[in-house]
Amino acid sequence: MKHINKLFVLAGLASAALYGCTQPGNNTQEKEMDEFISGLMDKMTLREKLGQLNLPAGGDLTTGTVQNSNLAEMIRKQELGGFFNVMSVEKIRELQRIAVEETRLGIPLVVGADVIHGYQTIFPIPLALACSWDTLATERMAQISAKEATANGIAWTFSPMVDICRDARWGRIAEGNGEDPFIGAMMARAYVRGYQGENLHESDSSMMACLKHFALYGASESGRDYNRTDMSRVQMLNEYLPPYQAAVKAGVGTVMTSFNTINGVPATADKWLIDDVLRKQWGFKGMIVTDYNSIAEMEIHGVAPLKEAGIMAMNAGTDMDMVAQSFLNPMEEAVNEGKVSKARIDEACRRVLEMKYKLGLFENPYKYCNVERAQTETYSEANRAEARRIAAETFVLMKNENQLLPLAMKGRIALIGPMADAANNMCGMWSPTCDPSRHSSLLERLRAATKGKAEILYAKGSNVYYDAGMEAGAVGGRTLQRGDNQKLYAEAMAVASRADVIVAAVGECAEMTGESASRTDIRIPDAQRHLLEGLVKTGKPVVVLLFTGRPLDLTWESEHVPAILNVWFGGSETGDAVADVLFGKTVPSGKLTTTFPRTVGQLPLYYSQTTTGRPDGDPTTFNRFMSNYIDCPNDGLYPFGYGLSYTTFEYGEMKLSSETLPKGGNITVTVPVKNTGNYDGTEIVQLYIHDQYADIARPVKELKDFRRITLKKGESQAVTFTLTEDDLKYYNADLVYKYDAGAFQVMVGPNSRDVQSASFNAE
Ligand code: BGC
Repeated sequence: MKHINKLFVLAGLASAALYGCTQPGNNTQEKEMDEFISGLMDKMTLREKLGQLNLPAGGDLTTGTVQNSNLAEMIRKQELGGFFNVMSVEKIRELQRIAVEETRLGIPLVVGADVIHGYQTIFPIPLALACSWDTLATERMAQISAKEATANGIAWTFSPMVDICRDARWGRIAEGNGEDPFIGAMMARAYVRGYQGENLHESDSSMMACLKHFALYGASESGRDYNRTDMSRVQMLNEYLPPYQAAVKAGVGTVMTSFNTINGVPATADKWLIDDVLRKQWGFKGMIVTDYNSIAEMEIHGVAPLKEAGIMAMNAGTDMDMVAQSFLNPMEEAVNEGKVSKARIDEACRRVLEMKYKLGLFENPYKYCNVERAQTETYSEANRAEARRIAAETFVLMKNENQLLPLAMKGRIALIGPMADAANNMCGMWSPTCDPSRHSSLLERLRAATKGKAEILYAKGSNVYYDAGMEAGAVGGRTLQRGDNQKLYAEAMAVASRADVIVAAVGECAEMTGESASRTDIRIPDAQRHLLEGLVKTGKPVVVLLFTGRPLDLTWESEHVPAILNVWFGGSETGDAVADVLFGKTVPSGKLTTTFPRTVGQLPLYYSQTTTGRPDGDPTTFNRFMSNYIDCPNDGLYPFGYGLSYTTFEYGEMKLSSETLPKGGNITVTVPVKNTGNYDGTEIVQLYIHDQYADIARPVKELKDFRRITLKKGESQAVTFTLTEDDLKYYNADLVYKYDAGAFQVMVGPNSRDVQSASFNAE
């Protein structure tokens, strides 16, 4: 206790009002922090400094083959700056006690975890959240996640993940915001604001965010996880890096490097990206941590053995090593051999200590271990109500023939499919802290919602896949009980024959998405597809409730099933949220931030393509010597920005304030939107631009703004957007950020396909 008392008093004096994260509130506060840390570092040996740079895994959850163990022993030897993925507040408190009371300097540990879309109150997966286009809802979900996680010992979350992804084969598309840099940047800011709040230092219910994966992990070749990325700098800067930059601008405290190589260079040792772009150009002042064992994986990439890899990563500007332990013994040797400067180690150590200081850990190392708060504020009624509301906003109505939805609460409704009664499956990937035994299944909540009004019949209907081995691989640790393929099908048909309407809960199971879950066949798995065919053959109306973490090929379903409601993985409150939307209490408003392809053969696919010299003229037929496919149109089945409502919105003619965007000025674009249907509803009005002649070929359409408006039935609103020259800028082949004077198109519409267009001239 002796040393730490002194540390706390000093830190307390120094930091009483340290606001924000990467930018402390003012120079005085920053100076106080610097002085405190300099004072502490003066007392530290090289070994103690290196210890701060080591981040072992806690062992409650591992995401690789390598595991670190015996945390207590490592703490006593001062061989770590923190740890991650220990899922018990009591355990964390005890480990913190050892650090504070049983080490020479008593430096507190920082405790991280993957709190990705909720702690115990689980929200929809991030891809779904993005489809709400509701940045405030995303911010709110991050706030609630922080509130619950910080009570349970966690001060640092490895979120947000902002990797742009345009290839549905990649399982981790579920973890990001989709294909578009503009919506990606909006969401990135919302996560950071929500997790870190206004005053990280003072608050005990905000946590530090970690932007990941820096960078370009979402462009993994062939959609295969951990694969390389090869990309021009022009494409990086224009299309893939903006969300990371937005998070940095929003003050994100830490950044995680990615597993992949970029143009052959492992991201963890990419000096250009880390030092030039992130640090120098974007001014990032926080701490940079590697991904899980990334430094050791540089050996397997064939770049360098562990010690050399550590040196490369350190010299590129990485500060903390997750799991590989290369910054400990090997780094001590490297420093003694003069291969890494003491100044670089000091810089890295300072960043780790600054992080702890900004979190207020020096004043109170137990700040994030509040057992009482853990009990009252985790999975509370209020948090769950928010999760339910937000989940309903993320659902995307893909098809609704003859207004089959919403369903009337009457008669017999058959709920059929392997996702219908699987409470442990609703939360989706990366929800290690959730306790599915507390959640009700969809079946249970639909029965509760319709009690006394309609009868909900149920049959599981099928396994996930026919093949047990395939299913074991896909389902992993979660238990979706298997049954006999034929018996399940026969039961489903018997139940369906008694129903007035059929709701088929089918799709991917949670473990088929997220990390290490790449697929080459992105259709609904075989057994469920055949189940669906059987259900459609009954001639009764069928609604598909689609569970998925990626865009799927829904070609067959879109032709044969009258209604498709994509509910992604909606989190712990999925059951209630689905009931709300299915029966019309909530009108769906989600719109896709990822294109749904017609076939896996189109991937990668995204709306903001550039035009070839031979654009496809007629999508209904194959055109030789034009840029198209013999066997499939170019465009997706459901475009970016697409989603239906129970009501209808009519767009009037758009008007520009002028045909010229003057230098340094702006033009406004106004479009009247009217709710012409029978429900109050929310519409997401989207604005795109196209640069007609530029230094390099530019996308046919780029999202530049949107409004989320709620209109009562019959109500109209004039939606106005303002465009300035900043909206027109891009990086040219010389990496100069500029815009071109000349002709532009501006497009407005309910999605990226159905737009009206006008022209203007930029001066
Ligand atoms: C993932 C990261 C995650 C880390 C720690 C890795 O496998 O790529 O996103 O934060 O594990 O669990």
